[in-house]
Amino acid sequence: MTRLSGATPSGRAQLGNYLGAIRRWAAEGTADDLYFVSDLHAMTTAYNPQRLRALTREMLAVLIGAGIRPASVFVQSDIMRDLTALTWVLECTSTFGEVARMIQFKEKSAGAKTVRLGLLTYPVLMAADILLQGADEVPVGEDQSQHVELARALARRFNTTFGDVFVVPDLVVPQVAARVRDLADPSRKMAKSSRDDAGVVFVLDSPDLVRRKFRRAVTDTANRVEYRPDEQPGVANLLEILGACTGRSPAEAAAGITTYSALKDQAADAVIEELSGIRKRTLDLLDDPAELDRIRATGAAHAAERGSHRLEAALRVAGLG
Ligand code: AMP
Ligand code: TRP
Repeated sequence: MTRLSGATPSGRAQLGNYLGAIRRWAAEGTADDLYFVSDLHAMTTAYNPQRLRALTREMLAVLIGAGIRPASVFVQSDIMRDLTALTWVLECTSTFGEVARMIQFKEKSAGAKTVRLGLLTYPVLMAADILLQGADEVPVGEDQSQHVELARALARRFNTTFGDVFVVPDLVVPQVAARVRDLADPSRKMAKSSRDDAGVVFVLDSPDLVRRKFRRAVTDTANRVEYRPDEQPGVANLLEILGACTGRSPAEAAAGITTYSALKDQAADAVIEELSGIRKRTLDLLDDPAELDRIRATGAAHAAERGSHRLEAALRVAGLG
């Protein structure tokens, strides 16, 4: 059984990525799984090339530092010749209408002065990511479920039109996914590409910086440490984070805490503790570029080898070569 998922290096890995996705990939992953840095997906809006390269390496190091097997990790662009070949075949399997319907495209293109064509076609590349590797399960957040549905539809359509080449993947939306909110604005999801970093805890932030961000976290004036997400979203977020880092429910995490400052300190301590190992391993890897390059090359070779026969089969039945 192969699980596959990707993390887009559109910013630095943050606590939400870790608690909501990466930690689970590391804990539940098997040797057949694949987790990759989707750098091609970070090009759909304006970006800086040097920064993209650095963020890609950082995200790769974070995935390995989090404990995902190095052989299960790769960088998307390292196998882009195969991926873009399959993307073309899948673009000719999709319709304009079904791709233009994607909610994420509508949201990201609304109001934009210029819209890159890649922003529209990106879900087809995502389908290629999934179908090239024959993934059985694709764990993603809610916002990506429509894209996985598209991959399923394309796999079925291609298989019925041309021949049985692709595995139809299952969408897995983790039920108890921690939904980490921005510490400075609990109405928003914590996100790596937020314009304002004050409420975003990055995986590689120093303990001091983590503590400062928690001390400044927005709460409310109720002065009660209780888990009431609708009435007290800031406090609820701190309790969710504290609970997620200490293996308890948010309500359990509230036990014994009476002041907001104690809650902030406990949440900060728990996050610092939870991130300390991954932070150290990631920084060590980033300090050893030759080792990171070696891991990267091995992962790319593994992913290319796994996918190549499926690409060849797809090209053949589609009338190419
Ligand atoms: P993204 O940063 O949007 O590329 O997301 C990468 C992965 O991290 C996806 O599986 C998301 O669902 C997860 N993720 C991102 N932000 C959060 C958050 N604030 N809370 C929980 N999970 C998140
Ligand atoms: N688009 C996903 C995101 O932004 C990342 C991603 C790229 C992905 N390719 C994928 C996830 C394939 C699952 C499968 O979060």
